[in-house]
Amino acid sequence: MDTQILDINETSISIASKLIHQGQIVAFPTETVYGLGADTFNEQAVSKIFLAKGRPSDNPLIVHISDNSMLELIAQEISSDARILFDTYMPSSLTVVLKKKSTVPDIVTAGLDTVAIRMPRSSQARIFINACNTPIAAPSANTSGRPSPTDADAVYQDMQGKIPLILRGDKCAVGIESTVISLVDKPIILRPGIVTQTELESLLNKRVDIYSPADGKLVNSPGVRFAHYRPSCATALFITRNTDEVIKYINSIVADRVCVICKQELVDKFGHVDTISLGIDDYEASRNYFGAIRQAEANHDYIVQVFYPEQEVGQSLLNRMTKSAYGNIYKE
Ligand code: TXA
Ligand code: MG
Repeated sequence: MDTQILDINETSISIASKLIHQGQIVAFPTETVYGLGADTFNEQAVSKIFLAKGRPSDNPLIVHISDNSMLELIAQEISSDARILFDTYMPSSLTVVLKKKSTVPDIVTAGLDTVAIRMPRSSQARIFINACNTPIAAPSANTSGRPSPTDADAVYQDMQGKIPLILRGDKCAVGIESTVISLVDKPIILRPGIVTQTELESLLNKRVDIYSPADGKLVNSPGVRFAHYRPSCATALFITRNTDEVIKYINSIVADRVCVICKQELVDKFGHVDTISLGIDDYEASRNYFGAIRQAEANHDYIVQVFYPEQEVGQSLLNRMTKSAYGNIYKE
């Protein structure tokens, strides 16, 4: 299959929405990461997403809506907390898990009786969903297990030959995936993101916990089981501000083609080793992270990530980095 990339505009959106109605899948921009979308109510179309990504069928998808009228099509009951979020806070980089309507196919929710719902802040995303005139089920548009794509070229890297169309919109302004909060029971953050615990607690005026696998709590958060964000080469993570330790470590590595990914303030500290700057603060670092990983893996054998969170969003980025480094982690 030929994969076309078209700049997002009225014409390309009309082509994309026709493809969606024909049961095809299309990649589209959002402010967090690019998504790979299908008509939520077309099971065959949704199955193509799992095939293109190589995604395990027991990992449910997020359903994307462009306005609150679509909410009624998929959520069985909209609790008062959900009302607060959808009426006063959306669109946003936030996904809300609610009890689903029985009309939402099992393939979308991996058989759960809940559905994850998101109204993206990106107007490009919402115009696309609105043109499709149906809620769009979409995971991130990467091959399963790989770093999420934050521009159309990264989508092309993973999806070339597997999908008919990529809509090229803005480079993602947030850069890490949405915060996922479940409101099925007591509010709990299943995946941290740019919308923080502090912000959600003040919006809902109550305590909001963050899910941690280490707690051993039984929460239906299928995504946390799977491998995530792995570059094609080896990688390690240093959670530290102490560069002496990292430099010592780098000098001990036998691989030649090493790349350090770190904040701007550290880039000059690693001698002749290649470095990629994540920018000056944790927001910039989140925006640049997945792009930096893809850039580094292209021509290096080993990626050393050096990071220390300074803002709440830095903790969300650290969640991605920790999964990417998969146990190869050193903490000061
Ligand atoms: O920012 C984002 O959320 C992006 C863009 C494209 O919108 N999408 C995204 O989708 O990151 P994905 O599939 O890569 O991650 C979806 C996460 C997974 O961790 C999944 O397990 C969780 O949401 N999820 C989906 N449905 C759920 C449900 N009913 N209950 C609990 N978790 C759910
Ligand atoms: Mg993903």
